[in-house]
Amino acid sequence: MILVTGGLGYIGSHTVIELLNSGYEVVVIDNLSNSKKIIKEKIESITGKKFQCYLYDIRSQEDLDFIFNQHKFDSVIHFAALKSVNESIERSVDYYENNISGLINVLKCCEKYDVENFIFSSSCTVYGQPLVSVVTEETPIIKPTTPYGNSKKMGEEIINDYVESTGGKAVLLRYFNPVGSHSSGLIGDDPNGTPNNLLPYLTRVVSGELEELSVFGDDYDTIDGSCVRDYIHVVDLAIAHVKSIEYLNKSERDVSVPFNIGTGVGTSVLELINSFEEATGEKVKYKIVGRRNGDIECIYADPTKANNELGWKSTHNLSDMMESAWKYQLNKKKDI
Ligand code: NAD
Ligand code: WQD
Repeated sequence: MILVTGGLGYIGSHTVIELLNSGYEVVVIDNLSNSKKIIKEKIESITGKKFQCYLYDIRSQEDLDFIFNQHKFDSVIHFAALKSVNESIERSVDYYENNISGLINVLKCCEKYDVENFIFSSSCTVYGQPLVSVVTEETPIIKPTTPYGNSKKMGEEIINDYVESTGGKAVLLRYFNPVGSHSSGLIGDDPNGTPNNLLPYLTRVVSGELEELSVFGDDYDTIDGSCVRDYIHVVDLAIAHVKSIEYLNKSERDVSVPFNIGTGVGTSVLELINSFEEATGEKVKYKIVGRRNGDIECIYADPTKANNELGWKSTHNLSDMMESAWKYQLNKKKDI
């Protein structure tokens, strides 16, 4: 049985679907700070399977103890966190409370209730602005410039020490830029408030909810002057979690292993806009503005280690990502 923290969120909900479809029993904890209760029903209608969901908070050790007392977990997949880079600068203590105290609470239960496998949502943000654009897991980790980024770097360090002192097993998945939606179009990236990330902002512009997309800079040393990222389909990312469970089930104790989860392909902001227009036939209203403070010029993954050791490879291309993101946006509008 697997506990999924933050399992009603964007990546968590897609992962719960892949876990249920692979035959795993799943329990979710989510405090709905960035998700909605209805996601549970949507997951159940997509998979035809039921699962238990506690609308509790990982900042409460009492809440967690209650859940761990009810179920015997083999694995925990830990998504629950606050994720807005900019907001983390304004609300650093809230971010550390959720992302660090919350993580520690979950790890305390893993130790107390003898959970073998732990999977952590880390981020390419731990590489900061690397000296080379394509990063491997050996690329040095540098001190991030924001509390959010720092919480991911610290999270990895805490888990490494936890594994060493308890003999547990962990995988640290360093996600690149997750985009797109489940093929049903029923769930997707739907942050509360105005999105910070590129694609949810873009789809809300095209649907008329937001006025215009600002492209942050066209004077970078890249193919067309806009920043380059490694966009990864959220379903591919979800499958990486299932592969990680299989990997940990087979591995020795006392391991904490990082994996880059990206496609290995870099795409600029302007290329992404172009791909969206081609895939959907819709026009994106945008203007070029100045650089966004703290943006990385160009970063994409070398996913060789995940390909070879997890037996995982991305299968969706950029066009699939754009089409599915738009399908979700259209469906979501019908819901309102
Ligand atoms: P999300 O905000 O959609 O999902 C997080 C979920 O956790 C939400 O449903 C939220 O309600 C829940 N949550 C937050 N704090 C909680 C708490 N204290 N107790 C219980 N539930 C809580 O975010 P996401 O995009 O699905 O990201 C999932 C994880 O992946 C996060 O750890 C995030 O930092 C990490 N990550 C995300 C990205 C990205 O671009 N989306 C990239 C790299 C890493
Ligand atoms: C992508 C590109 C922007 C919005 C962030 C976090 C990182 C990770 C992923 C969690 C950039 C450009 C964006 C807009 C734009 N998250 N952009 N106009 O910056 O790669 O990374 O999310 O761990 O930690 O920092 O993602 O989606 O914000 O931006 O031009 O309105 O789109 O400049 O080049 P980013 P993003």
